[in-house]
Amino acid sequence: MTETIWERWDVSPEENRRILGECRRILRAGGLVAFPTETVYGLGGDGLNPEASRKIYEAKGRPSDNPLILHISSEEELLPLVREIPEYAKKLMDAFWPGPMTMVFPKSPIVPKETTGGLDTVAIRMPSHPAAAAMIREAGVPVAAPSANRSGRPSPTEAAHVAEDLMGRIDLILDGGPVEIGLESTIIDVTGEVPVILRPGYLSREDIASLVGACEVDPAVLKKPDANLRPKAPGMKYRHYAPKAELTIFEGAAGAVAEEIRKRAAEALKDGKKTGILCAFEHEKLYEGFAVKDAGRMNSGEIAHNLYRCLREFDEEGADVIFSESFRQDSLGAAVMNRLTKAAGYHIIKV
Ligand code: TXA
Ligand code: MG
Repeated sequence: MTETIWERWDVSPEENRRILGECRRILRAGGLVAFPTETVYGLGGDGLNPEASRKIYEAKGRPSDNPLILHISSEEELLPLVREIPEYAKKLMDAFWPGPMTMVFPKSPIVPKETTGGLDTVAIRMPSHPAAAAMIREAGVPVAAPSANRSGRPSPTEAAHVAEDLMGRIDLILDGGPVEIGLESTIIDVTGEVPVILRPGYLSREDIASLVGACEVDPAVLKKPDANLRPKAPGMKYRHYAPKAELTIFEGAAGAVAEEIRKRAAEALKDGKKTGILCAFEHEKLYEGFAVKDAGRMNSGEIAHNLYRCLREFDEEGADVIFSESFRQDSLGAAVMNRLTKAAGYHIIKV
């Protein structure tokens, strides 16, 4: 057991300075700090120290073949970490960094294989959250950080989620309040002729293609991976973001979906199962009389923001089964559905 310190970001400029010094000391000594980013909370360690990477895997209970993202605070910090930067990647960087975009480059020799899960490439992101940016700058090293959850749990969107999963396993939790976006960054492979999305996120294929002319999507993003279809982002092959309950998604017209969900929920309740329903704010009244959570308004970013918190709440309430609407409306909806589909173990019913 490690004693985990909890610090609140932005209480005062003096406090921020003291906390940044503390984070620097911990990171430089090979320790672990959970910190807020605009996407989800990250679990940070010194990305050039193999021992720190080993500790990250251990704290998360994560398979060590699943590589970590290196977080930087300026473009100069990128150069020593990678072997080449294509022109289109420079354009993407200028447009979308700092922000919710991760790029995969051929790695330079200074990046340890322990950080990249043995791969010859490295994923790099420059977060925009002020606490993250200040912490990385102050630490003076690239900060390796996966999402700050135990492996297989939904990513944390507030400090309390980090504490649930990692209290006693890490040195410090930097509490910056609830995050802004709520889903992990868009991961783009920039090792080829054109960018390829390995994990969808806030930044859409259209955003990327309109800037650099072309953008592909790894086929494993859209379909259930199997022996013939291996995702290029190793983490995408795991059943991720999973609530403890059995989750089923229903796709179709809102009225028909609601009718089917109500029928199934009534049956599950009759069988003595604790039953939860997840729907858009606009449809909540279709489920009157059932234990329903609204994930937020459609086409607003609210569903992305609330999804992981809702899944964690179902866990806390001891749900046995969850029935969810599909939220496939816009480009952010596609990222939401990528996560929700994986959480459901690809169990989707069309009505
Ligand atoms: O928004 C985010 O990206 C958050 C915050 C903390 O920055 N981080 C995050 O990290 O989601 P993590 O470890 O939970 O997910 C990283 C994903 C995994 O699916 C991993 O397999 C993939 O990135 N990845 C990392 N390095 C890679 C590489 N060299 N090639 C392909 N995929 C890589
Ligand atoms: Mg993760």
